[in-house]
Amino acid sequence: PKKVAILISGGGSNMVSLAKSMTGDHPGRPCLVLSNVPGAGGLQKAEDMGIATEVVDHRDFKGDREAFETKLISVIDAYEPDAIAMAGFMRILTPTFIGHYAGKMLNIHPSLLPKYKGLHTHQHAIDAGDAEAGCSVHEVTAELDGGPILGQARVPILPEDTADDLAARVLVKEHLLYPAVLVRFLRGETEMLSL
Ligand code: GAR
Repeated sequence: PKKVAILISGGGSNMVSLAKSMTGDHPGRPCLVLSNVPGAGGLQKAEDMGIATEVVDHRDFKGDREAFETKLISVIDAYEPDAIAMAGFMRILTPTFIGHYAGKMLNIHPSLLPKYKGLHTHQHAIDAGDAEAGCSVHEVTAELDGGPILGQARVPILPEDTADDLAARVLVKEHLLYPAVLVRFLRGETEMLSL
């Protein structure tokens, strides 16, 4: 099977949904869960699932992005991954890192891209008066949240929604969308998926 490294910074609920999907005749298996945040909740969840974990703490590199990414690459490459899935990994990566994994890297973003790149996506959607929100899985390219979109899932925005309400509704869809896109990606299917 193809080896999939999953990059996280937090609770790792998307990581869990991806890891759980990779069983049976699935073309992939998780080879590594890496966090840039020591003690991130997802690390324990990965260990409980028997997946190798690593931490590369960006704070150890005191703002030297190049040194941070050089370390990241060396730690990740020791696992010889065929694909990299960013799942709530909250560091912006430079073209050096992205170029190293060109064509192999996916990310999930909690908006209907190209709308609301960056942070606070749910508040932006509410403030804009949008009728719906959602999430996107895209290939990672040098443009932040800008690579080819491989799949999207939509939810309604309800009148009294807070950003937290909306985030929770979208997250349920993230857990369906990301595994569905990953399996297609590993099989070389690039037609956009809509859920
Ligand atoms: C998810 O909602 C993901 O879409 C978002 O962080 C959350 C991580 O949750 N990612 C971004 O905002 C990327 N800029 P998780 O750790 O439970 O998967």
